Amino acid sequence: MQSVSQLSAPVGTTLSRFIAQQQHTHKGAQGELSQLLADISLAAKIINRDINRAGLLNLDGSIGSSNVQGEDQQKLDVIANTRFERALRNGGEVCCIISEELEEMIDTGNHKARYVVSMDPLDGSSNIGVNVSIGTIFSIFQRLSPQGSAPTIEDALQSGTAQIASGYVLYGSSTILVYTTGQGVNGFTYEPSLGEFFLSHPSIEIPEDGKIYSCNEGNFHDFPQGTQSYLEECRKEKLSGRYIGSLVADFHRNLLKGGIYLYPATSKAPDGKLRLQYECSALAYIVEQAGGMATDGSRRVMEIKPNALHQRIPLYIGSPKMVEKAMDFMQQD
Ligand code: AHG
Ligand code: MN
Ligand code: MN
Repeated sequence: MQSVSQLSAPVGTTLSRFIAQQQHTHKGAQGELSQLLADISLAAKIINRDINRAGLLNLDGSIGSSNVQGEDQQKLDVIANTRFERALRNGGEVCCIISEELEEMIDTGNHKARYVVSMDPLDGSSNIGVNVSIGTIFSIFQRLSPQGSAPTIEDALQSGTAQIASGYVLYGSSTILVYTTGQGVNGFTYEPSLGEFFLSHPSIEIPEDGKIYSCNEGNFHDFPQGTQSYLEECRKEKLSGRYIGSLVADFHRNLLKGGIYLYPATSKAPDGKLRLQYECSALAYIVEQAGGMATDGSRRVMEIKPNALHQRIPLYIGSPKMVEKAMDFMQQD
């Protein structure tokens, strides 16, 4: 039996209240960033609803076409992209959007807007049809071109260090939105009956070391020699292998429990699979804010300047001691 005090426990701080409180601590914040984060959380709520109904509405299959990267597009990839694009256009705070699902950057027409958003609207889309966790990833940059003019490619190709916020939404056993604006990392769990995200994971810090490694080891023999040696070491140490195949879900687990996620270069894909601009940079900002590390094997992910919208890089991300160890092995290549 639940006690009365359990039943009447406070539900806590909503995401919108938290954003409003944080706004005061940001130099030069004028409320637009708060509005933009609110627009993103609205799109996330809508996508959450779409995902939960996908099996019933026959939305959990392939659309029969490929995106710009030659990957099979799922119906929900396209729906999630549309949801975000619409929320960001209507919100009015974003001058251009970079998305995994769109070949070119999108000029929203809101030329007075200060912000640029890059996003992976639906991450882990191969898991949609099998009821496994999927996610959304986003990064927010300030535009470089003057407000009032059309956005330029320079606005879209900024390195991770220029991010003013980044985050992800994990549609899992519960839905959680995790983000940073450079003052630590906070997580907000969705309460569907109230339609609100509530602060559930304040000031997340990744454990310095961990016992989990996450990697698609089916590609083992195609990995660089140093990475193969590192993985052999993980097995020798009897670490737990945990790989969902949705970057957001694998990353989130390792962020909370301690671990490393790696998607190395392979002989077929010498630049790796994951995209710098809307997967790696965003998670690198989060992991660093939580005390972790992200590298492509030799460079800090945050400092890599993209030279194309859909550029890929190898990724090693997670607990600092584990990432450092992986890098030591890679240097022996
Ligand atoms: P997306 O669904 O946005 O294309 O991303 C898929 C990514 C990432 O989420 C995941 O970690 C990785 O691809 C899985 O790749 P493999 O199937 O090659 O392991
Ligand atoms: Mn992805
Ligand atoms: Mn995707």
